[in-house]
Amino acid sequence: MTAPMDPPDGNWWDEPVNRRETIWLGIAGAWSLVIFGWMSGFTRFGDQNPVGKTYDVDPGAYRDRVQEYKEAAAETDEGIVPPNDSVYIGAMRFNWDGLPVVLEAGTEYDIHLGAYDVQHGFSIRPEETLSKQINLQVFPGNEWIVPMTFDEPGTYHVICNEFCGEGHRTMHGTLIVEEP
Ligand code: CUA
Repeated sequence: MTAPMDPPDGNWWDEPVNRRETIWLGIAGAWSLVIFGWMSGFTRFGDQNPVGKTYDVDPGAYRDRVQEYKEAAAETDEGIVPPNDSVYIGAMRFNWDGLPVVLEAGTEYDIHLGAYDVQHGFSIRPEETLSKQINLQVFPGNEWIVPMTFDEPGTYHVICNEFCGEGHRTMHGTLIVEEP
């Protein structure tokens, strides 16, 4: 019986690499370095990355802070109206503490994000354009203060995008943005 494939003749494993192949390897290598530089440059100078400050915080202490905020805020039928430009949101299984909240379009708010129990995902998007969204991770023990301005009035949906347990898919909240 003969082998299904005949080995090539001669000492094929010892031939010099074709020049064109070397050139393409060089181009691919140089391009990968460009892409790598682009990525770190975009992280540093791009305007698309979440910013803000983060602090270590005990989850219980964060929860207390959210309760204090809610006590200082006004309750309306639509939701909580924050007393100033600081908005506190607590992620918990399976709810967003502090939502719904009523905000004014065009005002910059400091959105404080923290979790009481496990890691959650804060995914926010306008009702009419579901493809337009930002996703942030929320961790217990960490308070993330993200400045946000809503240019357009409307309803913004918040869903949890990090699997956090049985009720994960019901973890939903809203932000109501009104004309100032
Ligand atoms: Cu919270 Cu999934």
